[in-house]
Amino acid sequence: MAEWQRTHTCGDLREEHIGQTATLNGWVLITRNFGNQVFVDVRDRHGLTQVVFEADNPELFKAANDLGREWVLSVSGKVRRRVPGAERIDIATGKVEIEATSVTVLNPCPPLPFSVTEFPDEKLANEDLRLQYRYLDLRRRSLQQVLILRHRINKVIRDHLDARGFLELETPLLGKSTPEGARDYLVPSRISHGEFFALPQSPQLYKQLLMVAGYDRYFQIARCLRDEDLRADRQPEFTQLDVEMSFIESDDVLALMEGLAADVFAQCLGVTLPIPFSRLRYSEVMAKYGSDKPDLRFGLEIIDVTDIASESEATFLKEAVAEGGVVRAINVKGAAAKYSNTQLKPGGELPKIADANKARGLAWMKAEGDKLTGSIEKFFPDPLKARLRERLGVEPADLLLFVAGSEAVVSEALGALRTHLGSALKLYRNWWDEKAEYDAAEEERAKKEKRRATPFALRPEHFRFLWVTDFPMFGWNDEEKRWAAMHHPFTAPMDEDLPNLDTDPGKVRAKAYDLVLNGYEVGGGSIRIHRQDVQSRVFKLLGMELEDARKRFGFLLDALQSGAPPHGGIALGLDRWCMLLAGTTNIRDVIAFPKNQKARDLMTGAPAPVDARQLKDLGLKPG
Ligand code: AMO
Repeated sequence: MAEWQRTHTCGDLREEHIGQTATLNGWVLITRNFGNQVFVDVRDRHGLTQVVFEADNPELFKAANDLGREWVLSVSGKVRRRVPGAERIDIATGKVEIEATSVTVLNPCPPLPFSVTEFPDEKLANEDLRLQYRYLDLRRRSLQQVLILRHRINKVIRDHLDARGFLELETPLLGKSTPEGARDYLVPSRISHGEFFALPQSPQLYKQLLMVAGYDRYFQIARCLRDEDLRADRQPEFTQLDVEMSFIESDDVLALMEGLAADVFAQCLGVTLPIPFSRLRYSEVMAKYGSDKPDLRFGLEIIDVTDIASESEATFLKEAVAEGGVVRAINVKGAAAKYSNTQLKPGGELPKIADANKARGLAWMKAEGDKLTGSIEKFFPDPLKARLRERLGVEPADLLLFVAGSEAVVSEALGALRTHLGSALKLYRNWWDEKAEYDAAEEERAKKEKRRATPFALRPEHFRFLWVTDFPMFGWNDEEKRWAAMHHPFTAPMDEDLPNLDTDPGKVRAKAYDLVLNGYEVGGGSIRIHRQDVQSRVFKLLGMELEDARKRFGFLLDALQSGAPPHGGIALGLDRWCMLLAGTTNIRDVIAFPKNQKARDLMTGAPAPVDARQLKDLGLKPG
């Protein structure tokens, strides 16, 4: 072992090491000069240790004084107890320090573009700058903790599935397009000019082919690539836990995932999740919450009042019902005073949201004392008002919002209003906001009482999981005037709906399920079509003629005719899982090297131009 190599990490030393000599390797977090002593905090990913340089060793003292932030060091010395009153109760090594006897600078550096130290009252540098120097940002304690958590989640998943007989198998990156609803990233072939590989949007077809091949329990922590518009919870390159099983039904997949989630939460967060998770059919979830990924941490359910509204004297409500539409409402408890009548007029905060979701307007009432007031109150005679009050559970100070129109529009508009009101009125709290508040207060208390702070305890109710089942097989694409698969074209229709496949595709339900956590879609899967004739019918319905289907998916159609077992599976969005377990709503925080909102890697500069020579080789440029 070289002399400079560490005997301990920066997080190891405790009172039991007092009197021993130790060598640490790490980065200079901060140096403080007190005249006759220089204190240097040395940091690595394991922790932080205070090193003291005494003035009675002038050469060493000078070396310590010259150290800069983020220099890499080897420092040796004797472990000693910190002087009483100088202990730090917030770090594990806080009772001891090293009295330095030697220091070796392994690599100095000039002042860096931003500080990697995190102080609660210091704002982080601009995100683009931090993405440009991602290797520096990754030194930050909170980012390191997230990546360590990510490693743990992966490890629990691997162990859990291995113990249940699953094989971790790899599938190609260079393959043929698998439609998942996004654009493909294409890779030109050098050997066959004009032909392209597609990077996988998911390993969907390969995992199905592994089932045909008899590998009845497969999983993969798989990188997926989708060229789509980015959002805070979407990256062009992301990771799925991809799972497929043979000889199973939907319930088997759901139960497996519930057990896996419970294991991940218990081992990574110490939270006991109640399982099984709630389940709602797509039709129920849309009617009740106006979204297929509702956040169940708050109520604010949508309630149907079509029958009452149809008896009212409001022409626009009666017309909507006569046209086959619905009238639905939400009762925003105690919110009457939060929105002034002017704010509820067209163009106000809430009507704007309804309009943006294609609603023809937002009607409202307020419960003021025992009276109902508002934009449509006059159209409801007293007996109808009484029925409304009962249906909506009206109490004084409630705000009632109504939307009329087609079922789809009403669901979407009220769903958007529900989501908006949930956050605007703080009807739920993210656990990390609750934690930040708790931590600040607890730290104060602990300091006063000279004890270590009691860590924040996560509770099961911070995480509201929901399965959404019974999705429609197809959605009508109005622009292209054709049916499109809601999940993907390999999803099996419900057996009892098979007869409707050719006659009434809109009515066919799929054996598909999504997993939702706190308003995020964190997984999706289905039972697959395992019969060639059914797969061909579905392709045809999606507008793919036999010849076209054979050209694109001939290998799958052949495989389905070669003894394909019944099979199905799921994929979990691992980045989103990490986000919600780590306590962030920014997907970039849980990926070591993410792309920015414009799908660029600011650190390496990718995507970037390439040599003319490379383009020529690929047949992309004449020459
Ligand atoms: P799906 O397309 O629903 O299903 O993807 C599964 C899960 O992956 C996550 N996800 C994403 N996460 C980050 N960035 C993205 N751009 C992104 N896109 C999707 C979501 C989603 O629920 N082959 C099927 C699975 C199956 O049927 O087994 C599939 O890929 O959390």
